[in-house]
Amino acid sequence: ETLRMLVDNSNSEISYSQAVDLLNRGEVVAFPTETVYGLGAVATNELAVKKIFEAKGRPSDNPLIVHIGTIDEVPNYIEEIPDVAKKLMDCFWPGPLTLIMQAKKGKLASNVTAGLSTVGLRMPNHEVALRLLRKLRKPVAAPSANRSGKPSPTKAVHVEEDLQGRIPLILDGGATGLGIESTVLDVTVTPPVILRPGGVTKEMLEQVIGKVILPTKEQQKLDSTPKAPGMKYTHYAPNAPVYLIDLNKKEVEQALRKLKECGHKVALLAPSSYQDLKADYFFSYGSEENKEQMSAKLYDDLRACDKTEASIILATTTTTEGVGAAIMNRLEKAAGSKWYKNEE
Ligand code: TXA
Ligand code: MG
Repeated sequence: ETLRMLVDNSNSEISYSQAVDLLNRGEVVAFPTETVYGLGAVATNELAVKKIFEAKGRPSDNPLIVHIGTIDEVPNYIEEIPDVAKKLMDCFWPGPLTLIMQAKKGKLASNVTAGLSTVGLRMPNHEVALRLLRKLRKPVAAPSANRSGKPSPTKAVHVEEDLQGRIPLILDGGATGLGIESTVLDVTVTPPVILRPGGVTKEMLEQVIGKVILPTKEQQKLDSTPKAPGMKYTHYAPNAPVYLIDLNKKEVEQALRKLKECGHKVALLAPSSYQDLKADYFFSYGSEENKEQMSAKLYDDLRACDKTEASIILATTTTTEGVGAAIMNRLEKAAGSKWYKNEE
């Protein structure tokens, strides 16, 4: 059975001790970070790491991010730390930025990196995650704590929905702040390449280290051996098919009318100003101007669709300014790049 322990109060010491014990014994534990909940195991323990892949149903060729509690630990796992990486750690750690670097051989379990010579490191900016890492004093491999393919968990109940009975413990630190996963930046190449957009935006990175590359969707498709192996799997997908639709109230209204005529039950994910349209189910992104709010709610909204009878999900788009780039990246994947277009 899965135990869920609240860690928001001052006498939560016992929860941390239990989590540390389990991790030291080679078990997996779910914990909150500032982005999404992670499912952690000690990154030097191959059998423990294997349990992550099993609990998630994750393909074993998709490598995991290693979480650390202090910047001092980086040289333990990295061959040579590029200067740009040092600058980025100083500016953005702890925070939602994962840096892909050349790994030192034999320091981490080989299934963490799925056989690659590189490893992704990140220091999360969340009190619970940091306290756990610093008490454990070991590196923790942790992907998002969802079943493979599902939207990442931003609340402890999401983890419970997906992994109930498959893992021993969830540390419940409430809703995560950012709501979408960290930016993954490959600093083994010059200029560095954004493999996954996230809370630390291209603009923010470029202010510190100059040019970075954000591949277009077309470039990602052309590349037959994607650098982020995660790119080739379906992601963030509710049960009903998701279609993207332009942010245009008239278009959305027409689409709703047509789909309902054809017998569909439609769930609409859109800014709060779209609430008065006649969707069967409505999930608000919040205000279109507030991208932080939108990213915080996105996965919760996608998951909520699975609790409805919707046969199709329409999700309005947003601009790619700031975190908008990361939001659109996740929406595109949730939709499998399907767009709803009204006939002329
Ligand atoms: O915010 C986050 O990053 C969350 C929290 C829990 O820290 N973690 C997370 O992990 O999203 P995961 O496993 O769901 O996503 C890790 C991504 C995958 O797309 C994976 O392919 C990529 O990072 N990745 C990991 N190691 C890599 C490597 N050595 N080279 C290229 N891509 C790598
Ligand atoms: Mg994930």
